[in-house]
Amino acid sequence: MFSRTRRLRRNENIRSLVRETELSVKDFVYPIFIEEGENIETEIVSMPGIKRFSLDTIVKELNEIKALNIPAVLLFGIPNKKDDIGSETWNDNGIIQRAIKLIKQDYPELYIITDVCFCEYTSHGHCGVIDDHDLDNDASLKNLAKQVVSHAKAGADMIAPSGMLDGMITTIRTALDTNGFYNIPIMSYAVKYASAFYGPFRDAADSTPSFGDRRTYQMDPANRIEALTEATIDTNEQADILMVKPALSYLDIIRDLKTNFNTPIACYNVSGEYAMIKAAAEKGWIDEDRVMLESLLSMKRAGANIIITYFAKAAAKLLN
Ligand code: PBG
Repeated sequence: MFSRTRRLRRNENIRSLVRETELSVKDFVYPIFIEEGENIETEIVSMPGIKRFSLDTIVKELNEIKALNIPAVLLFGIPNKKDDIGSETWNDNGIIQRAIKLIKQDYPELYIITDVCFCEYTSHGHCGVIDDHDLDNDASLKNLAKQVVSHAKAGADMIAPSGMLDGMITTIRTALDTNGFYNIPIMSYAVKYASAFYGPFRDAADSTPSFGDRRTYQMDPANRIEALTEATIDTNEQADILMVKPALSYLDIIRDLKTNFNTPIACYNVSGEYAMIKAAAEKGWIDEDRVMLESLLSMKRAGANIIITYFAKAAAKLLN
């Protein structure tokens, strides 16, 4: 006698009764790129279907997000003015601050998460202040505090720091709390690898480093135990949600964090992961919808509660 596991696969009714993981539009966060200026609606060549919008053109996009019941957006700003410290990040009238106010006012049902970093705002493209060709951690933290307070004052619902600076969660929590924003949660890019999968994003956000790379602050893709160290530090510093980034090549890390930590786990299905599926589908080599849903499902099955993805709209259309 042998086991017959095929009994529970005989038709869709029984398969759906025993299904362990279900993807939902409620799992998604949609990243949007907002550029300073007017009448901008620029396709990002390496991310087909994703555009950079200005504040006057973003309405169409927001209406669509709302109609599809996507619960949250992750905002990235592309300013006109860059300098060597990224001072536009804490300008209360900067592009992100104005975007937050617009969305809060016209789309109150959308949850606004801001990506907190400097690389789109610095002339050198690194994630903070540079000293002697490397990121000056503590000088960058001082500016980070100013940036998050400015986002919070504009109305951000959640802060997501992506710079991989030491002490960033303590710094942000303290800055938010001392300004009365103790109800704003922090979603930490706690485990962010120095990944080649960010390539298309750097075109999108205009944030390619002008020298060197990010390996002195982002993690070595070879390391798994270190992910637990990073996550431990960030939860001790009161991070509310831990993120793993990228997602697809790091499903083992998502599972490790899910097993070892009680906070919700997020993952970032990054630009290169999106671009690969789009490119293969364009060539007719894969079924885009099915490969998309299967990869998103794998992230949820690995343990992610929140999936940040450029596929949010496309997947929502199939799941709603
Ligand atoms: C940094 C940041 C990056 C991404 C999100 N926030 C790029 C980087 O670290 O170089 C990548 C997102 C993606 O590839 O989709 N602010």
